[in-house]
Amino acid sequence: MTALRFDLIVRGGTLVTPGGRVQADVGARAGRIAAIGDLGGAVAAHTLDAVGLHVLPGVIDAQVHFREPGHTYKEDLATGTTGAVLGGVTSVLEMPNTDPPTTTAAALADKLARLKGRARCDVGFFVGASAGNVGELAELEATPGCAGVKVFMGSSTGSLLVADDETLAEVFAGGRRRVAIHAEDEDRLRERRPLAEAAAHVRAHPEWRDAETALRATWRALALARRFGRRIHLLHVTTAEELDVLDECKDLATFEIPPQHLTLVAPDCYERLGTRAQMNPPIRDGRHRDALWGAVRSGLCDMLATDHAPHTLEEKARPYPQSPSGMPGVQTLVPIMLDHVAAGRLTLERLVDLVAAGPARVWGLAGKGRLAVGFDCDLTLVDLSARRTIRSADMATRVGWTPFDGVEVTGWPMATVVRGHVVMRDGQLVGEPHGRPLGFVETIAPTSPA
Ligand code: DOR
Repeated sequence: MTALRFDLIVRGGTLVTPGGRVQADVGARAGRIAAIGDLGGAVAAHTLDAVGLHVLPGVIDAQVHFREPGHTYKEDLATGTTGAVLGGVTSVLEMPNTDPPTTTAAALADKLARLKGRARCDVGFFVGASAGNVGELAELEATPGCAGVKVFMGSSTGSLLVADDETLAEVFAGGRRRVAIHAEDEDRLRERRPLAEAAAHVRAHPEWRDAETALRATWRALALARRFGRRIHLLHVTTAEELDVLDECKDLATFEIPPQHLTLVAPDCYERLGTRAQMNPPIRDGRHRDALWGAVRSGLCDMLATDHAPHTLEEKARPYPQSPSGMPGVQTLVPIMLDHVAAGRLTLERLVDLVAAGPARVWGLAGKGRLAVGFDCDLTLVDLSARRTIRSADMATRVGWTPFDGVEVTGWPMATVVRGHVVMRDGQLVGEPHGRPLGFVETIAPTSPA
């Protein structure tokens, strides 16, 4: 009898599968999971020792800003995806507020072309809605590799903005895929900006961009989405009040919470980290953080996503509120969340739901999100008991810092596998970049496995 042959066998780990935790080997062939079980008699071109490790389906970060083109001194697709795989992330969805913004077919095609030979994980791109391109969104969102349409209802980094209900209605009326929404009400932001100017300290950030600012935009988005029968996804939900609305809208709206908002808390984060803790929507006080944890634990929340948004320390040193909003996050998603698992704040199974199955389901990522035969062999191998310290110096991001510098965590990503290729092991990059555009079930142009 000839032995079974695989391209890769991951041996001896504890797999977190939809059927529960199982002690088994994983065999990959042609980029997919071909077998799960005792593969002791099988042979493979490559083997990865997972004894003592937990093997998760590849972690997906569904909101990152990689700044290419336009601001590659902060990040680019090579450095951003390097941080991803060093942190155990196998797929990312990248945001359109680059320069130029991803608002045209040419800009989207340009971004997709830039992945080749440079991206270390798989990448999908959102296109940005603007008053100028509402007529083209239906066509743009049907492009293979496109994650869907993103709307900035309030201004943040970059020029993208759809502040009025008329334009938002046009966005919802054209196209059919789920629309990603940054929900902060622009009128209220403009009205309250003097508060931030007067305070001249970042601790005023959650006052300027207050809970009402988020809630108003969320209401407007939900009302219009219902009118047009369009599914939406609320990006980075940060308030208790929004959760009270969103739990009535599961037929219409999914939502995500950033790990930063589960981990940092105001006012402490602003006193300790200054403008490095400044992001939109803001980190808020303990009442909101507790409510967000409630939505994580109850199952209401669909996914976590980091909003990885690098700015240089020099830019961050500008006096508030001229300082830009955003912080890196893609490389620390797994360690920070494993530490919460170690502290008993959520189960490993719920974490897998939030960072793999959840984003794959919401965004329709073909072949992603599960550790099961037939799915892509994307794996995040973690040591649940490793104690490590997060260090800015170890971050691949071009801006060279993390808000979690010096934080000791329990739990660490030890290896990353993308479509059957080991791309990180023990903190070291392995092999050449071979990331490619993600396949989305709604636009599918299935590509042959790598
Ligand atoms: O804090 C943020 N930074 N929020 C956003 O919405 C955009 C992001 C960025 O691109 O810098």
